Amino acid sequence: MSTEDMIQALAEKNAEAELGGGEKRIEIQHNKGKLTARERINYLLDEGTFEEFGKFVLHQSTDFGMDKKRFPGDGVVTGYGTIGERPVYIFAHDFTITGGSLGHAVSEKICKIMDMAQKTGAPLIGLNDSGGARIQEGVSSLAGYGDIFMRNVLSSGIIPQISAIMGPCAGGAVYSPALTDFIFMVENTSHMFITGPQVIKAITHEEVTPEKLGGALTHNATSGVAHFSGRDDAHVLDTIRELLSFLPQNYKEPPPSIEPTDDPYRIDMDLKAVIPESPKAPYDMRTIITSVADHNYFFEVHAQYAPNIIVGFARLHGMPVGIVANQPSFFAGCLDINASLKGARFVRFCDCFNIPLITFCDVPGFLPGTAQEYGGIIKHGAKLIYAYCEATVPKITVITRKAYGGAYIVMSSKHLWGDINYAYPTAEIAVMGPEGAVNIIFKKDIKESDDPKTKEQELVEEYRNTFASPYRAAERGYIDEIITPEQTRPKLIRALELLRTKKKKMPSKKHDNLPL
Ligand code: HXC
Repeated sequence: MSTEDMIQALAEKNAEAELGGGEKRIEIQHNKGKLTARERINYLLDEGTFEEFGKFVLHQSTDFGMDKKRFPGDGVVTGYGTIGERPVYIFAHDFTITGGSLGHAVSEKICKIMDMAQKTGAPLIGLNDSGGARIQEGVSSLAGYGDIFMRNVLSSGIIPQISAIMGPCAGGAVYSPALTDFIFMVENTSHMFITGPQVIKAITHEEVTPEKLGGALTHNATSGVAHFSGRDDAHVLDTIRELLSFLPQNYKEPPPSIEPTDDPYRIDMDLKAVIPESPKAPYDMRTIITSVADHNYFFEVHAQYAPNIIVGFARLHGMPVGIVANQPSFFAGCLDINASLKGARFVRFCDCFNIPLITFCDVPGFLPGTAQEYGGIIKHGAKLIYAYCEATVPKITVITRKAYGGAYIVMSSKHLWGDINYAYPTAEIAVMGPEGAVNIIFKKDIKESDDPKTKEQELVEEYRNTFASPYRAAERGYIDEIITPEQTRPKLIRALELLRTKKKKMPSKKHDNLPL
């Protein structure tokens, strides 16, 4: 064979591999509104940067006629490329080959690039579209998942790991995405569940559609398993690119600052009116977040889940920051189980990857009720405390209005080693709200009064004047400065610049014991 023939043979082999399970199956994939594995990779990465590994890998299974079902590359496409000119490693299940199912060869291909991502310190992206463990390969498939889980955990906190669910993801296969940092789902075409509708019907007699059981809305809004949803494959892939633009390549790097193009001293007089006159009136905390962010842009994470807390990324003078904020327009901004979990997970992610935390606090307390107590608000609320305590990244807090009780402490207070703590003059920092407080400490006086209603009102007013302000906390040094709302952006930027050189390490130990 001449060299030219050999090159021709390679081109033919490449073309065959690139066709995956064949044109018919590609057409079925497209008819479902889904891109193929290679189309997804090429869309996600910077144009022309994809370098593929393992294009000719074949599975070695012969049981159940598998010897006749061999496709070059098997059920996954793996390799690396760049996003925003920074390297990433990627694997994409190819549903056109045995439904993207995972056998031994598929898991070996995935593990190879997981190892490379970890040792070179670049993010890992998994695009999931798979029927799960390849049934014909039995325990080898299960072992393959175990190998992947192990690597997910070893890489956790070293490199960002991102999962997109772009088709089925069932059974134990869901646990690899669940071990990664962020999960994206495509609306209508992606599903995640441990047991599918048929098994559920057989065991519990419940009837549920795949969409209701494990679709994008379910996991974004109800279970909180997923952090983002997108209209279609392209929307999800665009959002992954954007998320990565806020993240460093690995835990040793600072997050990527960009050339600032928004005035760092910009003040916003509209913020003066953002806190309502009535302490009970709601307002949208996003108004403050977007006002202070560069170009008023906030990239929200977990937007559909636990709306009483807001988390996401923004830039301040070009520097990426993680924002955590109570949202007074949902449950008055109370912390509940879901909000605690959402906040804790985000705080821990930011701390892993050197992203400074900005906390906006307006919290009347933890949500009362038996559902919360029986659901374990004590252990789940503890997770948020734990996350803030162990975070060593710069922590800046702005108390806009209420900061009551334990929830005041939780929201990055000085006592959990918040670095710089600001409060607006409208802040109310107290053990609890005035009504609750006077009804406890003056219960007898109110009851014995000739006019209990008026007495209560007077006491509430007195309490409000004495405690429901930022001044007692400022007197003790728990608040570093009382700032006016319009100054928020310049104050935050100066604080961030000051804290750029912050060095803090937690005591050395085997690992911590986060309350799970
Ligand atoms: C082998 C599989 C497969 C699997 C699908 N296929 N899943 N092959 N092992 N797990 C094959 C089909 O035989 C078919 O091959 C092709 O993929 C496309 O599948 P269809 O059923 O025709 O497609 P569709 O109608 O779109 O349905 C997709 C599906 C369904 C919802 C994923 O195939 C399905 O329910 N599969 C089984 C899912 C499952 O229970 N997996 C095990 C989960 S447990 P041909 O050659 O006909 O095109 C698990 C354990 C992990 O994963 C443990 C970790 C610790």
